[in-house]
Amino acid sequence: MSDKNMPRSYDGPPDYRNVGLHGMSPKTTHDEKSRFNFLAHLNRHLASEILPGVKTAYETRVEPKNPFPNHRNQVRKALLEDSLFQHWSALRRGTMELRQQAGRWVTLRQANELNSKAAEMTKDDPRLVLDANLDIPKYLSSIDHHCMPGSYHDELVPGDVTGAANYDVGIFVTTGGGLGRFSDGGGQAVVQWMQKNRPDFAPKRILDIGGGLGQNVVPIAQAYPDAEVVCVDTGAPVLRYGLARAKSLGVENITFVQANAEDLSRFPDGHFDWVQSTMFLHETSVKAMPKIMKESHRLLAPGGLVMHVEQPQYAADMPLYEQAIRDWDAFYNNEPFWTKMHELDLDQWMVDAGFSRDELVHGGVAAVVDASLFPEHANDDVEDYGRKAAWHIVGGQKSDAVKEAAQ
Ligand SMILES: C[S@@+](CC[C@H](N)C(=O)[O-])C[C@H]1O[C@@H](n2cnc3c(N)ncnc32)[C@H](O)[C@@H]1O
Repeated sequence: MSDKNMPRSYDGPPDYRNVGLHGMSPKTTHDEKSRFNFLAHLNRHLASEILPGVKTAYETRVEPKNPFPNHRNQVRKALLEDSLFQHWSALRRGTMELRQQAGRWVTLRQANELNSKAAEMTKDDPRLVLDANLDIPKYLSSIDHHCMPGSYHDELVPGDVTGAANYDVGIFVTTGGGLGRFSDGGGQAVVQWMQKNRPDFAPKRILDIGGGLGQNVVPIAQAYPDAEVVCVDTGAPVLRYGLARAKSLGVENITFVQANAEDLSRFPDGHFDWVQSTMFLHETSVKAMPKIMKESHRLLAPGGLVMHVEQPQYAADMPLYEQAIRDWDAFYNNEPFWTKMHELDLDQWMVDAGFSRDELVHGGVAAVVDASLFPEHANDDVEDYGRKAAWHIVGGQKSDAVKEAAQ
């Protein structure tokens, strides 16, 4: 039974039963739904009730003993000595581990069904382009990102999609519905940004790099139905699942390609009008980033746009306490590049990749969440640093002058 018509006294996450289902959604029992609900509520409690206390503890008892820090690492190390931070951090880590256990269990017990369904839905479909010989970069293969067993690429059996299905069902626990019904509120927000800021933009070819199982590229493909959309990722399980998921949602214009975004030489120069990445760069590496940025610039047609959407950078005006809390994922949630990536001068990296400074594009987006299903999130002001569904855009638009020169 849906709870959407029931009165509510607690301003917590919506019921898991409101999450949107598609043709690849794993089935969940009553107990499994309750487990997701419990974990989502625990995360919300940690963000809304405990984290403000950690801030007070920092101001009243940690900082006075460790005055005048000049780097976020000093703040983090000082916080490590505080019992409230220890409890908050251990519980937050616990919710990640329990999310993965809960999601893994849901998907493993129906692995055969899920794998067969994906195989059936993608059989002989030219929109699934896998490369069994692709080397998974070390920055991916050596880490279980955010405690996710096997990250995005491991296959337990040939044709495996269970890792992708686990990501799909479990993300609700961490975001508490803040990404909307289909966990695609980021993609929807990017579409809104584009329609508002570039109303006449009519891309013919769109590339999403590090697109995973396509949650955020599906709204883009829906908004530009005449465009050919390509979603590139290194993980075969996410791509198989992604194509089957997109088709089951009636989206037919996305091709899922297994490739490393550092080398997309399979596509010619200037092939895409829009190169998008969403919450991707932080899972690469400092060595990979220049190659990815160069490829994005090379692949862009004159007049086209590159958009990288990420959590905000640690700018000089961001308080060190906030930086330290945002850095939690780097140290306790298996996101090793998170810390370095958020201190980089992304504008400079875009310039080094070939954009001029006046071609750079900046903006901000917040996840679009269907208020009828997730009323609490419509006006949510709880700040869960590093988790809040609000991101910065660092982008670039190749000037038309290049187009004119080429003609
Ligand atoms: C945090 S997920 C984001 C997925 C998706 N953009 C979204 O918004 O849901 C990052 C994705 O980047 C992929 N990835 C990381 N490095 C990559 C690379 N060098 N080339 C292609 N994909 C990569 C991972 O496999 C993973 O699926």
